[in-house]
Amino acid sequence: MQTSNGVKATAQANANIALVKYWGKRNKELILPHNGSISMTCEGLFTITTVEFSDRYERDLIIINDEELKIEEDKSSSLPFAGARVKDEKDILGHLERIKKIAGIKEKVKVVSKSNFPVAAGLASSASGLAAITLAATKAAGLNLNQKELSILARQGSGSACRSIFGGFVEWLKGKKEDGSDSYARPIADENYWPEFRIIVSILTEKKKKVGSRAGMAQTIETCPYYDGWLKTVEDDLRIIREGILKKDFTAVGSQTEYNCLKMHALMLTTKPAIIYWLPTTMEVIHNVVSWRENGLECYFTIDAGPQVKIICLKKDVPEIKKRLKNIEGIKRIIVSKSGKGVRLIDKPRT
Ligand code: PMV
Repeated sequence: MQTSNGVKATAQANANIALVKYWGKRNKELILPHNGSISMTCEGLFTITTVEFSDRYERDLIIINDEELKIEEDKSSSLPFAGARVKDEKDILGHLERIKKIAGIKEKVKVVSKSNFPVAAGLASSASGLAAITLAATKAAGLNLNQKELSILARQGSGSACRSIFGGFVEWLKGKKEDGSDSYARPIADENYWPEFRIIVSILTEKKKKVGSRAGMAQTIETCPYYDGWLKTVEDDLRIIREGILKKDFTAVGSQTEYNCLKMHALMLTTKPAIIYWLPTTMEVIHNVVSWRENGLECYFTIDAGPQVKIICLKKDVPEIKKRLKNIEGIKRIIVSKSGKGVRLIDKPRT
């Protein structure tokens, strides 16, 4: 890893939406998944993050969407730093400490991060957030990592973040090694490859979800009797969707994506206690998508660890689907996304 002089750095990362979902860790510390996953990096759903390490700061300061993250002392923490721990699902401070350790620096850090969409509501905010922080922090710490190295590092902050390093359609290889060095994302096709492909995100609530993906995955592995079935069939999903993307076979990609999503939610519904992310409006959108499709409007749904429904369609059908979605009560916002760029450094005025 090459190093240069550390400065303040700002990065922008798009969120990604999984077509084949990642659900379950085989190693919680390193965030190594039980299964591979495929996603589209989404233009227009992004996080911009500025990181600065400086001895001018007396304490770490992390501001996310204009709110300071509370950092509490936890002497029992096994994390390799001063006993402090962020009381947040994704351990942002732990991730920054990891980067400081690699760079060999000790300064305090200031992070200012903003997303343009609701966080922690099943919209992959941790993916764009942790991807942006990984690039900005490594740059600010004086490290120059390549994309594979960034992906491996981002993965340790939040699994799905390793996919947001790349643009377009991306596959996260689960890897086999204990140290995680073969578990990283790589592009299947870049953001210009399939310009007609669209994901319409329908936001039903901006409330934070009750069960985060981290806890949900752990609960699934501990209590769901069907997890083996998921692992047995996910390789087929990966192959069909990977090949479908390369052939631009919309029907293959859409139908397998919907099937994979339903399999993941079947796991969630059959944990103890059950994890039910769907709201009544979630079901309404599901039924509508199925009936629109039966009547010739080809579209498919996918849902992550939250109630929002993402509709997969082609560009030509976006106006009609948007019109129909607007007639469904309970949809707060609609965002249309095509495949976007991977994480990148941007210029930003000093904060
Ligand atoms: O990386 P996490 O902890 O935000 O988990 C992501 C889980 C899903 O969104 C449900 C699936 C995925 O692959 O993005």
